Amino acid sequence: MKNLLTDLKTRVLSDIEGAESLEALESIRVKYLGKKGELTSILRGMGKLSAEERPIIGLLANEVRDEIETQMAEKRESIGEARLAKIIEEEELDVTANLSEVRVGSRNPLNRTMEELEELFRSMGFSVVDGPEIDTVDNNFTFLNFPENHPSIEMSDTFYIDEKHLLRTHTSPVQVRYMMSHKPPIRMVSAGRTFRFDDVDDTHSPMFHQIEGLVVDEGVSMANLIDTLDLFVKALFGEDMKTRFRPHNFPFTEPSAEVDVSCFDCKGEGCPKCNFTGWSMELLGCGMVHPNVLSMCGIDPEKYTGFAFGMGIDRITMVKYGIDNIRLLYDNDKRFLQQF
Ligand code: DAH
Repeated sequence: MKNLLTDLKTRVLSDIEGAESLEALESIRVKYLGKKGELTSILRGMGKLSAEERPIIGLLANEVRDEIETQMAEKRESIGEARLAKIIEEEELDVTANLSEVRVGSRNPLNRTMEELEELFRSMGFSVVDGPEIDTVDNNFTFLNFPENHPSIEMSDTFYIDEKHLLRTHTSPVQVRYMMSHKPPIRMVSAGRTFRFDDVDDTHSPMFHQIEGLVVDEGVSMANLIDTLDLFVKALFGEDMKTRFRPHNFPFTEPSAEVDVSCFDCKGEGCPKCNFTGWSMELLGCGMVHPNVLSMCGIDPEKYTGFAFGMGIDRITMVKYGIDNIRLLYDNDKRFLQQF
């Protein structure tokens, strides 16, 4: 019986060695290890052995089975690998095969404008930074020199999270954050969502977008502010555009101004769209950073001066793309978006 087993082992192992497919391997398994297989029937004959022989043969039989199973597993793996290598070598991937139509969306014009603005300021040497949409009341109002009784602070104008936190009403708190964490020279812009308690109509939405800019250094003047913004307007809307600075009032700048640009329709000639003034819309607010703001943010107002500006991105997008309803920017209606 011992011989039977060693002879069987030799044959099985050589069969396994010669197997070329998983199917061939499987029939070898059935032939030797299956219910009616050779090893199985040898084991059945063990009952006839003497009590001394039985454990010895039993041990050997187990060894033979283990050896066969190990070799089979190894062979199975190498056949699998070879098969994969063959598939990789032989098969070609036809990338022109007809797939069902893939619909790719298009960028929302608002995002395009936002990126265009950021890119423009980047090219003028500004860093582009991010700020949170939920900010503290202090960053949004207090450190921007808002007086305690300013109407914007009212519950009716602003979305409060709790007593100390709110949905930022403008991107100006990013100025505060930046000044508190960076030393001059500072030149940064930050764009993003802003929130105010507003009823929705064609030009208003409780959520809208702004881009904020801040420059702080020694010797920064109002002339720098005017020149920078004039350059910006020409780069954005065209060389023939003019700017007009009108005095205004913001708590965080002194002096403050609002900037108008030439009418987009008549380029300054005067037409019904601009009420024959030649000027269209206040594009942005700006001014020289208030010394109180500088010192509350840890910057010495005796040594440094700065200018800042902020503008609505939704409005600019609507003008640039000829969109007459702000709701269209937020609906995500494909029929609208696919036009851009
Ligand atoms: N935060 C102002 C607003 O929302 C816009 C603004 C005006 C930003 C003047 C500024 C600035 O940085 O200097 O109406």
